[in-house]
Amino acid sequence: MNLLETCGLTRRYAGLVAVDHVDLVVPRGGIHAVIGPNGAGKTTLFNLISGLVVPSEGSIHLAGQDVTARPTHVRAALGIGRTFQNIRIFGEMSVLENVLTGAHARLRASLVSIALRLPGFRSEERQAVAAAREALALVGLSERAAQPASSLPYGDQRRLEIARAMAGQPLLLLLDEPAAGMNPAETTALAGLVRRIADAGTTVLLVEHDMGFVMSLSDHITVLNFGRKIFEGKPAAVRSEPAVVEAYLGARLAAKLRAAHA
Ligand SMILES: Nc1ncnc2c1ncn2[C@@H]1O[C@H](COP(=O)(O)OP(=O)(O)OP(=O)(O)O)[C@@H](O)[C@H]1O
Ligand SMILES: [Mg+2]
Repeated sequence: MNLLETCGLTRRYAGLVAVDHVDLVVPRGGIHAVIGPNGAGKTTLFNLISGLVVPSEGSIHLAGQDVTARPTHVRAALGIGRTFQNIRIFGEMSVLENVLTGAHARLRASLVSIALRLPGFRSEERQAVAAAREALALVGLSERAAQPASSLPYGDQRRLEIARAMAGQPLLLLLDEPAAGMNPAETTALAGLVRRIADAGTTVLLVEHDMGFVMSLSDHITVLNFGRKIFEGKPAAVRSEPAVVEAYLGARLAAKLRAAHA
């Protein structure tokens, strides 16, 4: 059974179709990428999968279960973790506290046991702290656990977001432009981290504009343009597909024309 399947997934906004009948199949294991020019619908697709955006049409199945109508927190509990294109951390909270918010995504303690601080709650809280520390170690931020998150340099803040998602022990990790704004050394280290996450059994679905990063890491690539899936295949096939090259060249030309008329 596939880990993730979207069928005819569609999101319309006034006057445009951000995601247009996308069928996406992600088997368990490995690294999968979604690429496409700016505005192709990549982030909207991630928002649909994680539950931040409600589909206009279509369905989403996670490990065979229909999650189309499930709220974000339920999808997180079922195993969907994510990071954001624009960093979303709690700057005044410590690094560890930020990661703990992710660990709580999968806690099963009932509200009653939390309110009464019953033993079940305390052991779950201990598990959450252990999961958070493990996630910090995974991304190499253990030494920074007590610092305020806002004191981290940019590249570390991006890794903190990955740690927060991993603390929820997701089956599927969605990374939206994880390498954006990183220097080449940080990008290389990030590629190693993504590889380790996949090797440890978490299926990775990533959006990224850095083609070197995408081509070297991905087992399978899906290409979007104007909300539609225009191609999918292995990196070598994607690289030589005329429709893909054209989509990128077209987007670049459109950007140049916009700049010329600005
Ligand atoms: N809330 C919204 N309301 C209206 N239009 C939206 C909304 N969110 C996204 N869009 C539009 O949907 C299209 C797809 O946007 P999306 O952010 O998914 O693209 P993207 O592929 O992630 O682009 P980028 O590479 O620049 O991040 C764009 O035309 C965008 O302007
Ligand atoms: Mg985006």
